[in-house]
Amino acid sequence: MSVVAKSYHKDADPVVAYCSEHTVVQAPLQVELQNETLANAPHAGMLGAPEVLTFGQNFIKMFGGKRALDVGTFTGASALAWALAVPDDGEVYTFDIDHTNYHKFGVPILSKCEKTFKKIKPVEGPGVESLDKLIADGQSGTFDFAFIDAEKTSYPAYYEKCVTLLRPGGVIFVDNSLRGGSVADEKRREDPNCRAIHEMNDKIYQDDRTYSALLNLGDGTHVAFKK
Ligand SMILES: C[S@@+](CC[C@H](N)C(=O)[O-])C[C@H]1O[C@@H](n2cnc3c(N)ncnc32)[C@H](O)[C@@H]1O
Repeated sequence: MSVVAKSYHKDADPVVAYCSEHTVVQAPLQVELQNETLANAPHAGMLGAPEVLTFGQNFIKMFGGKRALDVGTFTGASALAWALAVPDDGEVYTFDIDHTNYHKFGVPILSKCEKTFKKIKPVEGPGVESLDKLIADGQSGTFDFAFIDAEKTSYPAYYEKCVTLLRPGGVIFVDNSLRGGSVADEKRREDPNCRAIHEMNDKIYQDDRTYSALLNLGDGTHVAFKK
């Protein structure tokens, strides 16, 4: 059985709701974008869980992160979270195969704050290829933070590219790492999306290049620290 894990769902688990009430801090722009996405965007349930975004922002602020990778833009909620957390000369590269939702729902809201908006660098195209291009451009080892939240069968590849692009001490957050609890059910791993996430969780746990912890936060957050 899948569980409703994101706090913005009205029927969220009460313990999840309680944790979120004592975790989530949102700027007015974030509240506006969340409301607009939930009210009007197609497949609004793709919106990043605010408790995961707050946790990521806390990491970035605490370790002085300046450059972030955001794999999976949708309407821009995760890109906005990282842009608010990095300093004025920070950068957030946000990748999506199709930026229609970002332009339609995100940009009209994000562009109200020029200081934050200018940090966001949208890159349209398949995520794996876009990350490969950054590697080919010599940007390996130059990013502080990465958030993976796009096409599920590509998760192992996104992880691999992000480890390459991160500096030592950089942090990766992988969203949907529990996929509604389905990864814990062997039968449901026959589904290609579930299998890819399960394989990525195994890969991260066994990866000597990172320290990691798989957290029951949002839809599952696998946190990996590059050694
Ligand atoms: C779960 S949403 C991202 C949510 C966003 N991070 C947030 O916090 O609201 C996943 C996004 O991945 C994008 N996507 C799907 N396939 C992709 C691919 N091959 N490469 C890059 N992005 C892809 C979708 O268009 C969608 O906008």
